Amino acid sequence: MASTRLGLLFLVAASTALAQLASTGLTVTLNDVYYFISPYSSATIHVPKASLDRVPDVFGFKPVTVIQDPVSQADISALLTNWTSLDDVYRPAFSEAIFHANSDAQHHDDAVTVSQILPGLTSTLLPLSHADVPSGPYFIHPSGALHRVYRLYDDFAAAFTEPLLPTPNGHFQPLSAKIPGSSTLSIGVPSRLYFTPTPQKPLAGVRIGVKDIYRLAGVKGSNGNRAWYHLYPASNTTGTAVQRLIDAGAQIVGLQKTSQFANGELATADWVDYHAPFNPRGDGYQDPSSSSAGAGASVASYAWLDLALGSDTGGSIRGPAGAQGLFGNRPSHGLVELDEVMPLAPELDTPGFLVRDVELWDRANSVLYGEKYSSLSQEKKVEWPGEVYTLGFPEDDTEDPADKMFVQFVRQLAKFVGGEVKPLDLDKEWAKTKPSEAGNVTLTQLLNTTYITIIGKQQTKLVRDPFYRDYEAAHLNRHPFIDPSPLLRWSYADTLPASALPTALAAKSLFQSWFNTHILPANANTNSNNTKTTCTPSILLYPASTPSYSLPRNLNLNLPPGGGLPFGFSESRISPFTGVPDSVFPLGEAGTGAVSAVTGVEEKLPVAVSVLVARGCDGVLVRLAREGVEGGWVVRPVVGGSGVRGGEVLMRRGVARMDWDM
Ligand SMILES: *[C@@H]1O[C@H](CO)[C@@H](O)[C@H](O)[C@H]1NC(C)=O
Ligand SMILES: *[C@@H]1O[C@H](CO)[C@@H](O)[C@H](O)[C@H]1NC(C)=O
Ligand SMILES: *[C@@H]1O[C@H](CO)[C@@H](O)[C@H](O)[C@H]1NC(C)=O
Ligand SMILES: *[C@@H]1O[C@H](CO)[C@@H](O)[C@H](O)[C@H]1NC(C)=O
Ligand SMILES: *[C@@H]1O[C@H](CO)[C@@H](O)[C@H](O)[C@H]1NC(C)=O
Repeated sequence: MASTRLGLLFLVAASTALAQLASTGLTVTLNDVYYFISPYSSATIHVPKASLDRVPDVFGFKPVTVIQDPVSQADISALLTNWTSLDDVYRPAFSEAIFHANSDAQHHDDAVTVSQILPGLTSTLLPLSHADVPSGPYFIHPSGALHRVYRLYDDFAAAFTEPLLPTPNGHFQPLSAKIPGSSTLSIGVPSRLYFTPTPQKPLAGVRIGVKDIYRLAGVKGSNGNRAWYHLYPASNTTGTAVQRLIDAGAQIVGLQKTSQFANGELATADWVDYHAPFNPRGDGYQDPSSSSAGAGASVASYAWLDLALGSDTGGSIRGPAGAQGLFGNRPSHGLVELDEVMPLAPELDTPGFLVRDVELWDRANSVLYGEKYSSLSQEKKVEWPGEVYTLGFPEDDTEDPADKMFVQFVRQLAKFVGGEVKPLDLDKEWAKTKPSEAGNVTLTQLLNTTYITIIGKQQTKLVRDPFYRDYEAAHLNRHPFIDPSPLLRWSYADTLPASALPTALAAKSLFQSWFNTHILPANANTNSNNTKTTCTPSILLYPASTPSYSLPRNLNLNLPPGGGLPFGFSESRISPFTGVPDSVFPLGEAGTGAVSAVTGVEEKLPVAVSVLVARGCDGVLVRLAREGVEGGWVVRPVVGGSGVRGGEVLMRRGVARMDWDM
């Protein structure tokens, strides 16, 4: 007897250990729209017996609506109609059963009424027994557990590396959902109705993609490298920058593609481990630029995504913003700690956003940079800088359509700020006022190898060396595969002596203190009334993007990886070296003057300008963008084939309709 009993106990214990069944959520369709049912329950509510019998189910889950708003029964119809335009997740098909906090029957637990609420929809109205679960669509389990609803979208721009779902403990897990698509991921977005922005949570419900160099608790990262992804376990910590966004209520919907180790890569040849995302503008086959490539392609493609967090070391936000006609900011250097973020070079790395909406840009900056960002959005009157410098701008009498946009922009900007336009020749200014330590060198001589030396020396030390050691230990002394562009840069760095890094940093410092004293000094000027002007005495502009076809991604490039080592000095290097903020504003789009090699038609491509102010004056840039949008001299970009008019994305016809009108 005794031995049989022990045997039985053993069997029971063994079988509990062997069968650890867990739900990762469920993909369903409701009226042809793909939804994901979260495996986590938000609350459990009382369901009167048999009251949901008419509502269809999948594995017991039934679509229902929760209304906490104190509306009368007569106003439910208007409320739900409002919801369909506020939220792309809620659809009337969730309202065959409505749990209503203000139900006329609230004093009677089981009172159920059936009523015609929306045209063609008969709804069962039920009392709501739970005050904390937010309004919106849910799937309800037979136990009464309410599960959040995510609408699924096809990542047709190939912008993401991993869709994510938040877990109740504040971590993330991969979102386990798939809708039909050709070699693409499915991204899930939660209903906007669950979230109400407050002063404590100004980003509540804002949907954001995060570049796959930021580590998130519970998530494996790739840095654009497959060997890295498979070598390291999921991270246990979310870094300061992303945690600030989460604490403010932002909804992280996935990790997004970076060119490998955030080094510049040309589409397609350089993108070996992961395929380059697709730039939706023009013929749909332009290079999205890099390294925040997924960020740019997604914000230009998806109306359901509000924001992307990228990073800029030498142009990794400004490039994709320009190529896709979006707002994008490289902030002042050092506004937020970059713990749990893969470095290129700490002296140059910055976190910033790609975004379509200026008001959201300001809110997101305020959250990410905290007290180091001074928003000017509430200022009634801003004292604008009196000088507008231009670098590399076209002549005033240009006939070129894109060049005319730059000329028009600077005229309108100068008129708006009441300032004077001064074309700047940086080399001449340098020759006139350079510090004596600089000797007789030109800017190009001083800075030609500064950028590549700093990123190459720092990334090999901080990222490559520990990675190689870990990989070799795990794989019998083998090297991991590295894409050609980071490999070329790392190999170059290996040829330099150790002294090259301090030399390069000294050159950066020399230029920085000269530029931040002579060209864009912060807070230094006084006006005629001897009061300080707002933060920056001047604004500096250079063209960020002009309409020309990128190198064809469908042909063999026959170029060195990444287009070659990043030697030289140009306008786009000013902000990395000096730490001043540099934001891209979209100005419109123009023809390229040639037919597309893909479509055989002359396509229009984005025109964008880079705007710089003194270090620490980031708030000035966003306010300026807002004034520009309101004044009509800066474009408010939209998703689609054109950043100005929207319209179809080639290879994905009717995308605008699909996104909103189901
Ligand atoms: C629906 O939206 C309109 C416009 O925002 C608002 O005036 C109205 O009060 C809303 N109705 C309900 C029932 O929430
Ligand atoms: C996270 O924590 C677990 C358990 O303590 C550990 O096994 C794992 O190695 C940690 N991951 C990282 C990336 O540190
Ligand atoms: C500095 O450069 C100028 C112009 O190129 C040249 O005339 C001059 O001799 C140089 N001075 C020194 C000390 O090299
Ligand atoms: C920059 O440095 C590289 C490598 O030393 C060299 O090949 C190139 O000619 C230099 N360019 C200029 C403009 O000095
Ligand atoms: C200086 O102050 C006067 C009087 O307050 C004001 O009218 C004028 O606009 C100010 N000038 C500048 C440049 O701020």
